[in-house]
Amino acid sequence: MERFSSISMAVVRRLPKYHRYLSELKKNDVKRVSSQELSRITGFTASQIRQDLNCFGGFGQQGYGYNVEQLGYGYNVDDLHQQISKILGLDKVYKTVIVGAGNLGQAIVNYTFFEKSGFVPQAIFDVNPRLIGLKINDIKVHDVENLESFVKDNGIDIGIICTPKSQCQKVAEALAKGGVQGIWNFAPSDVSVPDDIIVENVHLSESLFTISYLLKEREEVLKTKKY
Ligand code: NAI
Repeated sequence: MERFSSISMAVVRRLPKYHRYLSELKKNDVKRVSSQELSRITGFTASQIRQDLNCFGGFGQQGYGYNVEQLGYGYNVDDLHQQISKILGLDKVYKTVIVGAGNLGQAIVNYTFFEKSGFVPQAIFDVNPRLIGLKINDIKVHDVENLESFVKDNGIDIGIICTPKSQCQKVAEALAKGGVQGIWNFAPSDVSVPDDIIVENVHLSESLFTISYLLKEREEVLKTKKY
C-alpha cells in the first residue's frame, strides 16, 4: 500500500481511539480535559498523546493544548474533537458499497453509525437471486455482475467485502477496476490490488483470541500462586 506521509501507522491507529473517547466526552458535555485525564481514559501516556498530536501540529502556535496555571496542561474537548475529525478525514462524505448481503453485510448496512460518520452506503451486491432486488435498511441489493459498472458510474469511494473467502479476490478486482480508493475487507484472506488502493483487513477473531490468551495467562499465573 502506497503511503503519502511519514506518520507512522502506530500513530494513525491511535487517532480513531482519541476520536472515540473525545466523542464520549463531548456527549457528556465535558468542555475541557486535562492531559492526565485523557491519558487515564485512553491508556496512553500524556507525553505519547502530545507527541501524536504534534505530528499534526500545523494548526497554530499553541498546538492543540492549553496551559492554564490552575488546570495544568489540557485540551478543549470540542476543538480537539473537531481537529482529530479533520485529520481523520471525517469531515468528508464517502460513498460505499457492501459486497455480500449475508449476516455480516446486513449487520453493517443496519449499523447506522457508519452512515452517521459519513460512510454512506449506495448499494449492496450479492450473487444470490433470492437476495437480489431486496432492500436492506432501504439500500437495494444488486447483482454482483453489475458491481464494476456501478462503482464506476456512481463514483464509489470504498468497497466493503463481506463475501466468503473464496470470492474476495474476484470482488476486490471488480472494485479496483471500478475505481474505488479503499477496500474494507472482512473476508479472512488478504486481497491483492494495485498499490494505490488502501486496503484495511478486519479480523474480529484476532481480538477474541487476545481475550482467550489473556484469560489463559491469568489462569496460569493464579494457579502457580496457589502452590
Ligand atoms: P454469509 O454466508 O451469511 O454471507 C455471505 C454472502 O456473500 C451471501 O449472501 C452470499 O450469497 C454472498 N456471496 C457469495 N459469493 C459472492 C460473490 N462472488 N459476490 C457477491 N456476493 C457473494 O457469511 P457471513 O457470516 O456474512 O460472513 C461473510 C464473510 O465475512 C465471510 O468471509 C466470513 O468469514 C467473514 N467474517 C469476518 C469477520 C471478521 O471479523 N473479519 C467476522 C464475521 C465474518
